[in-house]
Amino acid sequence: MATVRWGVIGSGGIAARRTIPEAQQMVSNAQIVSVMNRTAERAREVAEQFGIPHWCDTERELLEQDLDAVYIATPQHLHCRQTVQAAQAGKHILCEKPMAVSMHEVHQMESACTKAGVKFMVGFCMRNNVYNRKARELVQSGALGQIVMGRAQLTCWYPPIPGAWRQDISRSHGGALIDMGTHCLDLLEWIMGARIVEVAGFQDRMTHQYPTKIEDASTIVVRLSNGSHGIVDNYFNLPDAAAQNMLELHGTKGSIVGQGTIGQDPTGTMFSIIQSEETGYSAEQVRDVAAGREEYHLEGKGIYGQMVETFSRCILEGREPPAGLEDGRRSVRLVEAIYRAVAEKRVVRVVDA
Ligand SMILES: NC(=O)c1ccc[n+]([C@@H]2O[C@H](COP(=O)([O-])OP(=O)(O)OC[C@H]3O[C@@H](n4cnc5c(N)ncnc54)[C@H](O)[C@@H]3O)[C@@H](O)[C@H]2O)c1
Repeated sequence: MATVRWGVIGSGGIAARRTIPEAQQMVSNAQIVSVMNRTAERAREVAEQFGIPHWCDTERELLEQDLDAVYIATPQHLHCRQTVQAAQAGKHILCEKPMAVSMHEVHQMESACTKAGVKFMVGFCMRNNVYNRKARELVQSGALGQIVMGRAQLTCWYPPIPGAWRQDISRSHGGALIDMGTHCLDLLEWIMGARIVEVAGFQDRMTHQYPTKIEDASTIVVRLSNGSHGIVDNYFNLPDAAAQNMLELHGTKGSIVGQGTIGQDPTGTMFSIIQSEETGYSAEQVRDVAAGREEYHLEGKGIYGQMVETFSRCILEGREPPAGLEDGRRSVRLVEAIYRAVAEKRVVRVVDA
C-alpha cells in the first residue's frame, strides 16, 4: 500500500502522547520518518521511544528529509511561521488547533499553502469520535426535528505551572476558550450543520492566579445561521475526575445527550430521546423518560490516529481534507469575535470575509 512519509514538528506533547503512538498502531497509509523538537534531547527520546529513524532540532533539517507531510504540534504562536516554512518546502501540513493566533497569520498561511499547492488540515480530531459522528448523523437526518439548541463543553483542572506556555498570553493568546473552546465551537458547527453568526459571554479568572491574563472560566452563548442557539463552556478549574464534557443537542422532536465524547479518548456514552409522534400540550408536563429512549454502544478508535489516516488518504487520492483552511480560518475568526464580545460586554456578529 502507498504510504505518506511524515515528519513531526514539536514532537514532545500531544504528538508523543497521542498522535505518534496512534498513527503507528492503527494507520497503514502513514509512516513517521523524522521528528523535530526545539530541544534535541526531547527529539531523540521520542525517536528512540517510537523507533523513528531520524530526529533533529531545527525545522530546516527536518524539511530537508524525504517527507510528503508534516504534523505541526507546537504551541500555537509558532504555527504560522512553521506552516509557511513547511509550505515553502513543498510539504503538506496537518496543523494542530488553533491553526493561528490572529487573522493576519491565517492570511499568511493560506497564501503560502495556495502558492505552494500543498494541502492543509487543522487538528479538529474530536470530529473523529464515533459518538460525535453519530450525533451529527442523527441531527442532519432531521431526527431531532427543528434544532433548537446545542451545547459543547470541555473542561480540565489546570493550576499555575511555572513556565507553561498556555499560561503566558504572549504565546497562548488566550485561556480555556482558545485551548478547549476551539474544539467545542468546531463541533457545534459541524454537528449542527450551521455557522455561528453571533456570540456573547462571560470569561473570568475565577480560581487560578496565572502569571498573565488568561481566563480559567469561559461561558459563551451563540446564535447559529439556522436560528438555533448554542452554549460553549470551558473551564480550567473543574477537577478532571468530575469532568462531564457534555454534548447536548435539543430539537422539537427530541434530544441527544453525550457524556465524555468531547476529549482525547475515543470513548464516551450517549443516548437520545426521540418522540415518534407529536404529543399535544400537557399542562402536567408528563415526562415518560423511557419512551423513545435509545442508548448507543459504539466502538471507537484513536481520534488522533484517524486524523493522520484521513489526511494521508487525502494526499494519496488528491482530495481536499475535511477540516481545511476554511474551517481553520473560521475558528480563528470565531475566537477573535468571542474575545472581543467579552472585552466589550456585548453581542458581536461574526462576519466571514
Ligand atoms: N487536537 C487536540 O486535541 C490537542 C490536544 C493537545 C494539544 N493540542 C494543540 O497542540 C499544540 C501543542 O500543545 P501540547 O499540549 O502538545 O504542548 P506541549 O507544550 O505539551 O508540547 C509542545 C512541544 O513542542 C515543543 N516545542 C516548543 N517550541 C518549539 C519549537 N520552536 N520548535 C519545535 N518544537 C517546539 C516543546 O518542546 C514540546 O515538546 C497546541 O497548539 C495545542 O492547542 C491539540
